[in-house]
Amino acid sequence: MTSSSCVACILAFMCTAAMVTAATTKQPLTRGRNVLVFGGNGFLGADTVEHFIRNGDNVTMVNRGNWYWDSFNRIKPYVRHISCDRKNGIASCDDLVQLVNETTQFDAVIDFSAYDEKETKDSGVLLRGKVKIYILISSDSIYDVCDKTHDAKTKEKDAIRPEDVDEWNRLVIVHDYGHRKLRAEEELVGQRHLDGGYPYVILRLPDVIGPRDSTYRWWMYQLWIKLEKGLPSKPLTIPHFLVDYHMSLVYSKDVAKLLFELLQMGDEIRDEAFNVAYDSTWTLEELLRAIGKSLAMDELVIAEEKDHTKSLYLYPSVRRGPINVSKAKEVLGWEPTPFDEAVEEIVTFYEDAMTGETFYIQKDEVIQSFVHRLYAENRNEFYDAVEKVYNISLQHFRPKDEL
Ligand SMILES: *[C@@H]1O[C@H](CO)[C@@H](O)[C@H](O)[C@H]1NC(C)=O
Ligand SMILES: *[C@@H]1O[C@H](CO)[C@@H](O)[C@H](O)[C@H]1NC(C)=O
Ligand SMILES: *[C@@H]1O[C@H](CO)[C@@H](O)[C@H](O)[C@H]1NC(C)=O
Ligand SMILES: *[C@@H]1O[C@H](CO)[C@@H](O)[C@H](O)[C@H]1NC(C)=O
Repeated sequence: MTSSSCVACILAFMCTAAMVTAATTKQPLTRGRNVLVFGGNGFLGADTVEHFIRNGDNVTMVNRGNWYWDSFNRIKPYVRHISCDRKNGIASCDDLVQLVNETTQFDAVIDFSAYDEKETKDSGVLLRGKVKIYILISSDSIYDVCDKTHDAKTKEKDAIRPEDVDEWNRLVIVHDYGHRKLRAEEELVGQRHLDGGYPYVILRLPDVIGPRDSTYRWWMYQLWIKLEKGLPSKPLTIPHFLVDYHMSLVYSKDVAKLLFELLQMGDEIRDEAFNVAYDSTWTLEELLRAIGKSLAMDELVIAEEKDHTKSLYLYPSVRRGPINVSKAKEVLGWEPTPFDEAVEEIVTFYEDAMTGETFYIQKDEVIQSFVHRLYAENRNEFYDAVEKVYNISLQHFRPKDEL
């Protein structure tokens, strides 16, 4: 991914995600459940697929065939992969059609790549009668197009569009992503009501944090914090409008584990939507301080920036505020990794990625993304600081000296 597409990706947010440990144990595909995954190569999806294959499940991934980060080694050898672009309709993907034909029933379908009703409709047509449980990965951004009538944390039952047509339209125009994600949900629910469809579970996630995030959101903040003292022309700031804004977050690894556990649960989870996030919420400043603490930088100076174009605005991606997760706790036994532990794991991953060789492509991309967004006028000052703090060479970014 180039830095400009990365920026586009950040703006579109909710690009999916992946996880820390490498697949060390080769599980032969001789036992386990038959799981069909749409997407699964993004940040969250790859973590999930890894969790399933490590536990011996038989995973077939359906996507366009991009292997991000180290997933070519971490995941590809252990799954069946079907190359398919859902934009063209899955019925045009012969290998998938054939697989479905040969399969009596999938133990689960996990859908990471439904961004509109088209995808859930197509799946409904092709997979009808063959799915034990269909898990749709949705987003808390769907609440941005709904009519929330209270100030407490958003609950699942707040997912109701406004009755007023003008308001309905206004929200849809402002929040296109949330609108489409909600249409994907509505289609799935509609099929169930119309003719039985298949049992489903909808998970509504807030911003996902974790290693291998191709939006580089976390990594850019981590870099900025780490370079705090070394960047005189760009001190650490947060946009003023986020000063008091509390956001929900979820850790990719926890969602992967939850998805695995969902398949062992009974009827109580069927045909339900669940908010899945940490119970606690954080302001952006609190999040940056948590990253700083993990980097042994306890005394961060963080200023408020009135001109938000001069600061990074990467979290949060929704405006309706945090979500209430009591339903997931009660029904699913949801119990995420302690936040400090998650932060530690994520910070360690990106620090290692910065000094190691494995992720040299991503390292170059995050550096270029940072320069592009914040340091275009004084690149060399930035490169100097990175080289000094991490003891790495960025010679390849500097103009060649005349010989
Ligand atoms: C794993 O799944 C693929 C595709 O559904 C199938 O061809 C294969 O037979 C399965 N393997 C096992 C051991 O179930
Ligand atoms: C599905 O399999 C049956 C045989 O079991 C075959 O007759 C049929 O043509 C197949 N359909 C597709 C779409 O491959
Ligand atoms: C979340 O919802 C539950 C159940 O309705 C309620 O008891 C609880 O107070 C809510 N929590 C917050 C933080 O709003
Ligand atoms: C920096 O890296 C070089 C090798 O690239 C190494 O020789 C040197 O000891 C390192 N310096 C520090 C302070 O770690």
